[in-house]
Amino acid sequence: MENGKLGHGFTLWFTGLSGAGKTTVSEIVEKELRGRIGNVEVLDGDIVRTNLSKGLGFSRADRDTNVLRIGFVAKILARNGVAVIVSAISPYKEARDQVRRDIGEDFIEVFVSCPVEVCAERDVKGLYKKALAGEIQGFTGVSDPYEPPAAPELTLKTDEEEPEESARRVIAKLEELGYLEPVEKLNQAS
Ligand SMILES: Nc1ncnc2c1ncn2[C@@H]1O[C@H](COP(=O)(O)OP(=O)(O)OP(=O)(O)O)[C@@H](O)[C@H]1O
Ligand SMILES: [Mg+2]
Repeated sequence: MENGKLGHGFTLWFTGLSGAGKTTVSEIVEKELRGRIGNVEVLDGDIVRTNLSKGLGFSRADRDTNVLRIGFVAKILARNGVAVIVSAISPYKEARDQVRRDIGEDFIEVFVSCPVEVCAERDVKGLYKKALAGEIQGFTGVSDPYEPPAAPELTLKTDEEEPEESARRVIAKLEELGYLEPVEKLNQAS
């Protein structure tokens, strides 16, 4: 474990299907980070689309613009020492990789993996039902592509582990990468 990253800002980027658990896991991680380091900021796709990306739709171009905007904000926050948590479907690999290149190191991609059938079963927002009925066009995983990361720093399988366990693995990864001081016994219950 190297120590050079302590106090560094970073971008923790959760990508995955709607309902995979990005927001759920990131909220637990956020709470943990707020208890351990000073500056934490969250950019959640649902909120970003009501302000920063208001007016953008779900074409590939608009989705990519959304991702690049989020990436830009994450970059300028993280370079000022902020721990940035992004939760966005971000379905296209090319746009995510562009953000990775722009941000450089300190970009940590977390693939929130969950079979589309399980996401559709959860149907947190009732959108899968509509998408499967053809009432929503271009819905990721149903009628629009999702391109999984080729080499994410971490993969969470939310159909196989509880949210707390997923969050614990994210924190452990941040410790392993040197962004967080390891705290033994932390959340070891799971
Ligand atoms: N291991 C798990 N990790 C995360 N969520 C889980 C897990 N197991 C079950 N769930 C449930 O799955 C749902 C995930 O919904 P959530 O809103 O977090 O997804 P999301 O990826 O943010 O979707 P969207 O892209 O639509 O915002 C929640 O209802 C959560 O309780
Ligand atoms: Mg969400």
